[in-house]
Amino acid sequence: MMPGDGTMTSIVQRVARQALVTFRSPPRVNDEAAKAFLENHSKLRSLMTEVRAADLKLVPRRADGSSAGVPSALPYHHGAPPVTYMHICETDQFSMGVFLLKSGASIPLHDHPGMHGMLKVMYGKVRISCFDRLERPAGGAQAAAHMGSVRRSVLRSTGEFTEESEPCVLSPDRDNLHQIDAVDGPTAFMDILAPPYDPDDGRDCHYYRVVPDAEVKNTDQAELKEKEVWLMEISQPPDFWCGGEPYPGPEVRL
Ligand SMILES: [Fe+2]
Repeated sequence: MMPGDGTMTSIVQRVARQALVTFRSPPRVNDEAAKAFLENHSKLRSLMTEVRAADLKLVPRRADGSSAGVPSALPYHHGAPPVTYMHICETDQFSMGVFLLKSGASIPLHDHPGMHGMLKVMYGKVRISCFDRLERPAGGAQAAAHMGSVRRSVLRSTGEFTEESEPCVLSPDRDNLHQIDAVDGPTAFMDILAPPYDPDDGRDCHYYRVVPDAEVKNTDQAELKEKEVWLMEISQPPDFWCGGEPYPGPEVRL
């Protein structure tokens, strides 16, 4: 047996098991299943709060791309992706991995249709802005069709998160859209999505931009309330793409 293997269950393994239990059956409102889901979700949140970069064998990176304490001989590689993803595990119920953002990088505003999510910063700092679409498009269905994909939405929150912060949580109907910006240098966060993105099952990732109120007023007289914004679906911004890299941490078995 490898040292450290088997005698103690890694925190990553415990998080994955708890994610599986939590998202195994879809929660329903006003019944026992909903209560059990909330309890499991709360446990998952507590476990995620404990996870630190060292648990994933992640070495915090510096702005020049090298690891802390290790001078880099290579200049910043301009062809390199601004964001990379380390796959940890995926089942039908959930996917788990780590997103690493270079200094100044952003994951543009996007949605998670019908999905739950939880993200926990491993190092560095991120700013997360969370939005939700409002149910009824202003001006009725006709106006919505006329304006294409501009939808009235609401900014729920903007906050900064570090490794000391609680996980940031999203659900199908709360904080479902978000933009994530690296603040003051490179950063990485662990991410759980449930169920995983699956374009064949109606869960594709869409990107959005906030449309200035003035641009929309010409076509619709609806006044936006405080914190409301117009969101327009856009194609994936050209300055954003996500590469892959190997996950160096403990293996997860489910
Ligand atoms: Fe996301």
